[in-house]
Amino acid sequence: MIELRNISKNYGNFFALSGVSLQIEDGEFVAVVGESGSGKSTLLNLIGQIDTPSDGEIIINGKTATKLPEKEVAAMRNKTFGFVFQSFFLEPTYTVTQNVEIPLLLAGVKKSARAERVSAALQKVGLTEKANNKASDLSGGEQQRVAIARAIVNDPPVIIADEPCGNLDTKNGDGVMQLLKELNGEGKTVLMVTHSAEHAKWAKRIIKLCDGKVLYDEGSNV
Ligand SMILES: Nc1ncnc2c1ncn2[C@@H]1O[C@H](COP(=O)(O)OP(=O)(O)OP(=O)(O)O)[C@@H](O)[C@H]1O
Ligand SMILES: [Mg+2]
Repeated sequence: MIELRNISKNYGNFFALSGVSLQIEDGEFVAVVGESGSGKSTLLNLIGQIDTPSDGEIIINGKTATKLPEKEVAAMRNKTFGFVFQSFFLEPTYTVTQNVEIPLLLAGVKKSARAERVSAALQKVGLTEKANNKASDLSGGEQQRVAIARAIVNDPPVIIADEPCGNLDTKNGDGVMQLLKELNGEGKTVLMVTHSAEHAKWAKRIIKLCDGKVLYDEGSNV
């Protein structure tokens, strides 16, 4: 469970987020929507512990992340969250396998277990046959599926996806949405930013931001 208590993030006088409080239960599928600059990425980055708030508290599975030392925050981040971004962020010269393996290397997983888990993650996203291709040789849709395999290979309970379909055509975008839906169906919490009204409908809950505040928050908690 993720709880934000009165979170603000400001840069000088400018508030990217101000006074945001919300709870996200395990297993929810949440779409975060709102105009460019409304604070969507800031919100996801704060939840995913890749940014820190200026004010307020973030509690993740009972631990107040905002009070933990950086080392513990890093450990919590690796264990809890898998990230997918609009621009994939693959290592272009690495193979597909090497890209997906990165979180396992960071987590100190042994070689034999790594091979098994990479292969399971690639099977999940339908890219078994591309395992030995260089990442830069893949199409955009395939590259995003590699990024999803990398996000799930450590089996984190929460997937954070910031405009995962932003650089994809409709067909590939729908494929990514289908994968996110499947992962949610398997029990993962999915937090996704989207500019697409169609894609937002795939989520069970929609949080709309406007000027750093929650404009509305609709849909059932699990
Ligand atoms: N490091 C920074 N310094 C100053 N302002 C920042 C910084 N990071 C973000 N902002 C501002 O905070 C606001 C919210 O940014 P954020 O990236 O969260 O928007 P967004 O809703 O994700 O927009 P988009 O849909 O364009 O991705 C923006 O006005 C942005 O310019
Ligand atoms: Mg953004």
